[in-house]
Amino acid sequence: MNNTNSKLQAIRWSRPKLTILNQLELPHKTEYIEIADSTAGHYAITTMQTRGAPAIAIVAALSLAAEVSMMGPSDNGEMAMHINTRLDYLKTSRPTAVNLFDAIAKLKRVVREAQGSVAEAYVCAAEQMLEADIRDNKMIGEHGARFIQSLGTGKKVLTHCNTGALATAGHGTALGIVRTLKPPHVFYTETRPYNQGARLTGYELLVEQIPATLVCDSAVSALLQRDPTIVAIVVGADRVARNGDTANKIGTYQLAITAKYHNRAFVVAAPMTSIDLELSEGKGVVVEERSEEEITWAGGRRVVPEGTRAWNPSFDVTPACLISAIVTERGVFTKNEGEDVYDLATQVPQE
Ligand code: MRU
Repeated sequence: MNNTNSKLQAIRWSRPKLTILNQLELPHKTEYIEIADSTAGHYAITTMQTRGAPAIAIVAALSLAAEVSMMGPSDNGEMAMHINTRLDYLKTSRPTAVNLFDAIAKLKRVVREAQGSVAEAYVCAAEQMLEADIRDNKMIGEHGARFIQSLGTGKKVLTHCNTGALATAGHGTALGIVRTLKPPHVFYTETRPYNQGARLTGYELLVEQIPATLVCDSAVSALLQRDPTIVAIVVGADRVARNGDTANKIGTYQLAITAKYHNRAFVVAAPMTSIDLELSEGKGVVVEERSEEEITWAGGRRVVPEGTRAWNPSFDVTPACLISAIVTERGVFTKNEGEDVYDLATQVPQE
C-alpha cells in the first residue's frame, strides 16, 4: 500500500517506510521525518511532532508496522510477543485520545487471531486503519455538511483546535465537515497555549483556499454576539463517552457554553474510533496535563515573570447537554426530545 500522493498529508506510508510531517515546524517549514520504529513513533507522539486523536493512533500502529517489516523472518510466537510488548509501550505515549487504545486493542486481536504470518497480518491491519480513517472522515464530512445545511441560511461556522488532514489520515473530522460544506466563511480559534488553530488549521485553510478569519479564544462570545450568521461551532473529539460527554482540546467546554447562550448549534465530529462505549460518562476521562512552559514560554523566551506557576490541562470535558449533535461516519446522532444525554450504545448501529 502507498498513500504518498495527496497535498496535505500528516502521514505518509509506503511499505515499509513511514514518514510524518513534523508539525512542530509548521507553518514555517514543511519537513517530513522518517519514523523507523516504535521508539521513534512513541517519541513523535509525546513530543507532538504528530498530534490529533486519529493521527496519534495511526502513527503508533504504522511505526510498529515499519519496525516489523524490517525485522526479517521470525517465529510467529516470538513475533506476537514482540508486537504486544511494543503496543503496550506505545500505549503510554498520550493518555486522553481513546483512538490509540482502540487501535491497540484491535491490533492485539489481529495478532491473537492471525492465520499464517503474524507480522504480515499486523502490517496489513495497520495499513487498513490508515485507509479506513480517510474513508470515515469523508463520510463524517458528508453527514456533517448536510446537518449544517439544514440549520438555515447563514452557513458560517467556527472551529477550534486542528481537526483536519493534519490531525488524521486525511480530510479531517470537524475540519473535514468544513471542507465538504465549503461555507462562505470559517472562523477558527488560536487554541492557546499550543496554537493548533493558529498554526495548523490556519495553514490548512490557506492551502485549501477556504475564506477564514483567525480569532483569539477569548473573542468567540463577542463574535457570536455580533454575527448571527455563524450557525454552528464544529469541533472534534479525543474521547466521547456513551452518554455523549466529550473530551476535546482545552477551551471546547467554554465554546459549548457560549454556543448554548447564543442559541447556535454545537456539533462534535468524531469517527467511531473516538467513541468509548466502555465509558458511561465523561468523568472517567484521563485529562493530560502538559508542561507549564507551554504557557509561560513563547518563541524560545519566557513571557511571564520568573516564578509564575501555571496550570496546563490539554483537554476538557464538555457535558452532553451542551452538544447539539454528534457526527460519526455512521450518521448524525442527536438527543431524544427533552433528554440531556445521548445513549450512544443503543443509538449507534454496530457493524
Ligand atoms: O493535543 P492535540 O493537538 O493532539 O489535540 C487535538 C484535539 O484535541 C483534536 O480536536 C482532536 O484530537 C480531534 S482531531 C480529529
